[in-house]
Amino acid sequence: MLLEKMLQSQGFGSRKYCQQLIKNGAVQINGEIIDNLKYKADLHGLEFRVYGEDYLYREKVYIALNKPQGYECSHQATHHFSVFELFDEVLMNRGLQCVGRLDQDTTGLLLLTDDGQFLQALTHPKKHVAKVYQMHTADPVTPEQAEKLEQGVELRNESGIFAATDVQRLAEHQLQMTVHQGVYHQVKRMLAAVGNKVEQLHRAQIGQLNLTDLNDLQEGEWVYLSAEQIEQAKIRE
Ligand code: URA
Repeated sequence: MLLEKMLQSQGFGSRKYCQQLIKNGAVQINGEIIDNLKYKADLHGLEFRVYGEDYLYREKVYIALNKPQGYECSHQATHHFSVFELFDEVLMNRGLQCVGRLDQDTTGLLLLTDDGQFLQALTHPKKHVAKVYQMHTADPVTPEQAEKLEQGVELRNESGIFAATDVQRLAEHQLQMTVHQGVYHQVKRMLAAVGNKVEQLHRAQIGQLNLTDLNDLQEGEWVYLSAEQIEQAKIRE
């Protein structure tokens, strides 16, 4: 692929700007400055450097973020920070989007991508992958509440029944459960429907991809997913 086109695909800016980067001698491949606009890059495993910073060519990007509290999953955040502030301009230029949303006060596993098909596969209303949430509740979790969550509850203005699986009481005020849809404030509303209240919410897992498999990713940190991890995130059950 023509070098300027490759740079553009990776988020370095317009075709014209990428041409300028090349002409300025800002781009290196294998330690060599490439200032020839006709240079064609072999994309397979391509590593390159722009203004001294190293990059790997990625056709699409798949990112796992451990989302901190106080960050909104929207580009135009109004009352809080935006999760997109955690990424550099080059990544943002690629059209990074959140795969589903977490509330500003929810922490944990959030995926981001520029692959529309991957986003669709994980968030299609009828095909949501399972997600594991852990929460701290205002009142002690009773066995009746756990049972009702497994049987399913109705949520106002939503059709159907919302049931959780693998409901586990981790401590008096701590619950873990798996949900299979993704409607607005779903977990908080499900807990409210059984007479309790979520005080802190954390997403631990999407599909079979768990935050603990991601090398103890700290809040605010992110990593690129491997091909295997991308497949784990897609597993439904
Ligand atoms: N359910 C909620 O209520 N909030 C979230 O952030 C995610 C799921």
